[in-house]
Amino acid sequence: MGPIAVILQLLAVMSLTAAKDDGLVRTPPMGWMAWERFRCDVDCKDDPENCISEALFRDMADRLYEDGWKELGYEYVIIDDCWMSMERDKEGRLQPDPVRFPGGIAKLANYVHERGLKLGIYADMGTFTCMGFPGTTLDKIQIDAQTFASWGVDYLKFDGCSSNPLVQMLGYPLMSIALNATGRPIVYSCSWPAYLGGLPPFVNYNLMGEICHLWRNYYDIQDSWDSLQAIVDWFFNNQDEIQPAAGPGRWNDPDMLIIGNFGLSMDESRSQMALWAIMAAPLIMSTDLRHLDNGARAILQNKVAIAINQDPLGIQGRRLLKEKSRIEVYWRPLFQSASALVFLSRRTDMPYRYHTSLGKLHYEEGNYEAYDVFTGTTVKGLNSTTEITLSINPSGVVMWYVYPLRKHNHTTDTETLRHHLRKPAEFRFHREKSGHRTLL
Ligand code: GLA
Repeated sequence: MGPIAVILQLLAVMSLTAAKDDGLVRTPPMGWMAWERFRCDVDCKDDPENCISEALFRDMADRLYEDGWKELGYEYVIIDDCWMSMERDKEGRLQPDPVRFPGGIAKLANYVHERGLKLGIYADMGTFTCMGFPGTTLDKIQIDAQTFASWGVDYLKFDGCSSNPLVQMLGYPLMSIALNATGRPIVYSCSWPAYLGGLPPFVNYNLMGEICHLWRNYYDIQDSWDSLQAIVDWFFNNQDEIQPAAGPGRWNDPDMLIIGNFGLSMDESRSQMALWAIMAAPLIMSTDLRHLDNGARAILQNKVAIAINQDPLGIQGRRLLKEKSRIEVYWRPLFQSASALVFLSRRTDMPYRYHTSLGKLHYEEGNYEAYDVFTGTTVKGLNSTTEITLSINPSGVVMWYVYPLRKHNHTTDTETLRHHLRKPAEFRFHREKSGHRTLL
């Protein structure tokens, strides 16, 4: 495609209104992605279990399907970098590495679809991917979109290595158009903002919401609490700029969940789950689901944390307070006047006893109950002035799901929580068998 054709296509973008208002990912996408845990391990001879190969993705699809993840909403199996052959085929199409993906991507997509899951893939708006595999230059956008659609791909992570702001400004909208033109619903994840520093005026979040379903704003997560804290700090220090950008079908992406790996304690793992729920972040795990300990599994499968993350209003939460004591309070408004609170300790000494009240956290007068997401206990008889004392572990959280009691009825208990966790038709708890006595 020559430069004139590229510009003509770009002009067409300007006539697009809310191109991404297509019903996809009305709640943040959930699933599994290879990168953080398995990186660019291409040595299948030496490390057959962990190398980037079709077997790895089949294994993860099996786990998602057989171990209860799918029912919880974890549905995308996403291939990251290093899946490609170094050469395009004779027709100029990308092709997978023939040794590591002998069956091809279409067959893998089939395998994933047969289990009721969806397949994601990775490409790069530039000359090379971040690991040096073939990139998608401007002239290759259309053919790559068509190739992915023909394989039955459901999600594209479009990275931005080996390019520049001008190429990105053309390429990211063009890929959106090209994906739409395939007629296949494909979730479009853009790394564009991360390559522009993540903030206005360089990043236009209105445009982002129109062309992408989700976007990476900041640096890659690594397997450590330090990396996680840097991401959390960046997201909440810049909340005025980025929080309004999120909503159904358009999500900020602070990167993968690293729970289940080597860098986080159990408390830190709960902190990631809690904060990602507050942020309405995609819940994309990157861990070895074949060897996951029960502690990490319980956190990743916590139904109330997931329900908060998947709240149908899709309003991203905010940091309310940063105390001198190094306790921080985060809040997210939820469906039917419920809300989530996260109390995070940045301390490194011992559990801290934090005193507060709902009124101090700007709650209106009224009667409330709170469900403690990680202990499973319910705190009853709260009003806005009730003194609350919480014990928060170092680098840990207390997470509350707070709901107002119906007027003139102060005795409701789990009924009310169930009522508030009920979402419209697509909401996942609906699919659970009724008659379940235990809450959720
Ligand atoms: C970039 C992305 C990561 C991952 C790697 C792959 O760093 O931000 O998420 O996709 O490239 O090379």
